[in-house]
Amino acid sequence: MSRNHPGRLEGKVAIVTGAGMGLGEGITRKFISEGARVLLFEISFSHGRKVADSFADGEDKDKAVVFQGDVTELGDWERALQVCVEMFGKLDIVVNNAGVVHRSGPSHEVPRSEYDRIMHINVSPLYQSAKVIGPYFIKQRHGVFVNISSISAPRPRPNLVWYAGSKGAVSAISKGLAAEFGPSGVRVNAICPVVAETGMVASVLGGTDTVEGRAGLTKAIPLGRFATPRDIGNAACFLASDEADFITGVELPVDGGRALN
Ligand SMILES: NC(=O)c1ccc[n+]([C@@H]2O[C@H](COP(=O)([O-])OP(=O)(O)OC[C@H]3O[C@@H](n4cnc5c(N)ncnc54)[C@H](O)[C@@H]3O)[C@@H](O)[C@H]2O)c1
Repeated sequence: MSRNHPGRLEGKVAIVTGAGMGLGEGITRKFISEGARVLLFEISFSHGRKVADSFADGEDKDKAVVFQGDVTELGDWERALQVCVEMFGKLDIVVNNAGVVHRSGPSHEVPRSEYDRIMHINVSPLYQSAKVIGPYFIKQRHGVFVNISSISAPRPRPNLVWYAGSKGAVSAISKGLAAEFGPSGVRVNAICPVVAETGMVASVLGGTDTVEGRAGLTKAIPLGRFATPRDIGNAACFLASDEADFITGVELPVDGGRALN
């Protein structure tokens, strides 16, 4: 994308987890369009590669670097930070976006293995990133975490309860870290999307993506549509930018008004 004015993230360096598709891809595209350089922290090299390759022929070709790793592994966070500093010279922003959902259904029927998977993949990266990136940000006396929670955290509803619980932890941890890291100049915020146009839709609808299922969900959203990767990219860009430099510890709903119902 051609720019004739400084972008809102000009000169910034970000790690975006789960950057190879869905909301992470939307966040990565927005960040790069606003001048940031991004390390795409992806468990799937092919997902990450596809997004990075889409910049290969343009002026942003050096702004996307794929890092294959698992966000639940402390060692992968250590390597990601090292690669980021080697490739880009620094790190300013971490977006904890990678996450998973269980199939919507009665809470007592969700298998224990699914419960464990949800809690592990959705919550432990906040611990790992705080442990590895926290000291780096504190030392340089600036840095921003943007954590992708869910509107199901402040407004849990039936059948996605374990997922909502994991996102409740994401929101609570984000606020706690905001209070703790604030005096060191480090900000931490959460974004709460409503159901979004990604591969997760089928699970949210109980296993099958149907026109009727989508219509039911859309009816409950005052602005009348699902969220898009672009919506979440825009919100993440604002929270990560210096325009938000007095904002920390918020849970920003990007939900078309869903939480009002
Ligand atoms: N899609 C929705 O309706 C919705 C709504 C609210 C919140 N969210 C949250 O937004 C985030 C992104 O969701 P999405 O729908 O874009 O997901 P998605 O399934 O479309 O994409 C997730 C990406 O994360 C990667 N990933 C998965 N596990 C990983 C790991 N351990 N380490 C590194 N990368 C990993 C995957 O390879 C994939 O590319 C999640 O945290 C999700 O809970 C999604």
